[in-house]
Amino acid sequence: MIDIEDVSFKYGSEERECLKSIDLHISKGECVLLCGRSGCGKTTVTKLVNGLIPHFDEGELRGKVTVAGMDVAGTEMYRLSQKVGSVFQNPKTQFFNIDSDSEIAFGLENQGMEPGRIRERIDETVRQLRVEGILGRNLFEMSGGERQLLAFASVHAIDPDVYVLDEPSANLDRDAIDQLRECLMTIKRQGKTVLIAEHRLYYLMDIIDKAAYMDCGEVRRVFSRDELLALPMGERKEMGLRTRTAPGRGRTWSGTIPERPVARTWRSRGSAASSRKERYWAM
Ligand SMILES: Nc1ncnc2c1ncn2[C@@H]1O[C@H](COP(=O)(O)OP(=O)(O)O)[C@@H](O)[C@H]1O
Ligand SMILES: [Mg+2]
Repeated sequence: MIDIEDVSFKYGSEERECLKSIDLHISKGECVLLCGRSGCGKTTVTKLVNGLIPHFDEGELRGKVTVAGMDVAGTEMYRLSQKVGSVFQNPKTQFFNIDSDSEIAFGLENQGMEPGRIRERIDETVRQLRVEGILGRNLFEMSGGERQLLAFASVHAIDPDVYVLDEPSANLDRDAIDQLRECLMTIKRQGKTVLIAEHRLYYLMDIIDKAAYMDCGEVRRVFSRDELLALPMGERKEMGLRTRTAPGRGRTWSGTIPERPVARTWRSRGSAASSRKERYWAM
């Protein structure tokens, strides 16, 4: 569904290449995490997939990116956006309206869908994502978490095959992250293909199939979910992977964690409620 073949990219304003010979292949229905330290090139890879490179950001691009059977460089943005939906770190940057229903309708109107069908599709979307509370709202009165759900719903309404998310949890509190996680579970069940750049792991461990670890513009290694889970904490930190800095209420997580001694400092916070695995992934 997503094929990045030997792609290198240099932003127009820069001297050095930002991506160097990237190869990444993502099958239909897979959810892949892009991870690595800040500045390693995660956002740039997401732009290869949603078409912002080369259609928006200027630079030198080599190699080939194919998404949902389309050559990204040779396909117009309006066609790409029907197949590839993007959710960014800061949802404010992607809104065009001030009321939430218009915002969800926006992409559908652009596709020329007739108003009755748009209403149905909005209702289907909020029902499937279980975010009915975002309907009929003024964007200025919505919390950051609600706005991110709205951004997600606006993409979901278009029903793209591929979702690209760039640090979608960056500005969210724990409840909002839980809701985002539910939305991701829903699209995964629907067989969507997902590429998600994130530092936080904890909310994604049940969702991702593999993780591409990037460093200095290269994909250094692709881990299976189990390999990622088995990484020692030191190595994980070394790779710039983190979760939240404070463990909160318990959350459901069905995975197993490696048997190693963990969490020294957490005990002193006296949180009996935080389970061992939560402490592990909260580091
Ligand atoms: N629009 C841009 N113009 C020039 N350089 C950029 C631009 N966006 C990112 N870069 C540079 O490209 C490198 C990778 O950035 P980015 O893809 O944003 O990494 P990440 O998302 O992993 O933090 C960084 O060195 C960054 O400074
Ligand atoms: Mg980034």
